[in-house]
Amino acid sequence: MKHLLSTKDLSAEDAIRILDTAEEMSAVNSREVKKLPALRGRTVVNLFFEDSTRTRISFEAAAKRLSADVINFAAKGSSVSKGESLKDTAQTLEAIGADAVVLRHSASGAAHRLAVTDWISAAVVNAGDGTHEHPTQALLDAFTLRRHLSRLSGTPSAGADLAGARVLIVGDILHSRVARSDVWLLATLGAHVTLVAPPTLLPIGLDGWPCEVTYDLDEAIASRPDAIMMLRVQAERMNASYFPSTGEYSRRWGLGDERFARLSELGLKDTVILHPGPMVRGLEISSAAADSERSQVLKQVANGVSVRMAVLYLLMSGGSAGYPAAAPELK
Ligand code: CP
Repeated sequence: MKHLLSTKDLSAEDAIRILDTAEEMSAVNSREVKKLPALRGRTVVNLFFEDSTRTRISFEAAAKRLSADVINFAAKGSSVSKGESLKDTAQTLEAIGADAVVLRHSASGAAHRLAVTDWISAAVVNAGDGTHEHPTQALLDAFTLRRHLSRLSGTPSAGADLAGARVLIVGDILHSRVARSDVWLLATLGAHVTLVAPPTLLPIGLDGWPCEVTYDLDEAIASRPDAIMMLRVQAERMNASYFPSTGEYSRRWGLGDERFARLSELGLKDTVILHPGPMVRGLEISSAAADSERSQVLKQVANGVSVRMAVLYLLMSGGSAGYPAAAPELK
């Protein structure tokens, strides 16, 4: 694997390899000595044309824990404002020494464009492109769910897929690159995915997506899912004409206090709540749900570092840079 652009083209074998490597990385993260020498002398550039908290910081932490040098580039304040192109920006950063470029961009297909042209030779990781894909988010979601299910069954995570898991993905599917990446990855790993959304916030042409679709969240919850993933309402990409009123949205598609309490009334003691963040509390999710014991939101964030370490390690070292045989470096 030279680049990570999409989960649609990821095989189950590749996905499980990344998740298993992330488990190894997580073991390193939980120890006092947190650095591995695997990517010493290599440089990772975080090339962010859109805002980010979790993804950018998580890639930075992941690269540093593998001893790589990190250059953070934000389009705001750069020569992009003077009209510099993605190609020229990327080539400038490669000239400075980038071995891998982690790209977030508002244009769907931007990471693919960077990877398939001969603009640069560095590995490209898609950190979110428009409404297209966000593959490392899907990998960390799968990692979090796999751990939860393994804990319930008392079996190890390593090597496991998600066969039989039932996952609801709820909300603004239309604008969600997370939903797209999750649908493909979770289905590849054997999960049964149901999208729940207002009709106006579903993409046209869902034929071929490996999932079911419903407009009715209560009915979907009654099917006893293992996980409910709430999505952020992406106001910045939204045309008001296809958004229900905020009151109607939170009443019908939000995980508010009443609907959250119903999970326990239905005896769904092991159903977990996921959210990729950032959360819009009070719209798609209430604080009671977001801060509950069912919530995996902060675990998702923590797991994101391990997953991104795995991705950088596998892409940049080809899995042969001395991990896991090499001893962790003291710092
Ligand atoms: N989940 C996610 O992509 O969050 P950020 O936009 O903060 O990176």
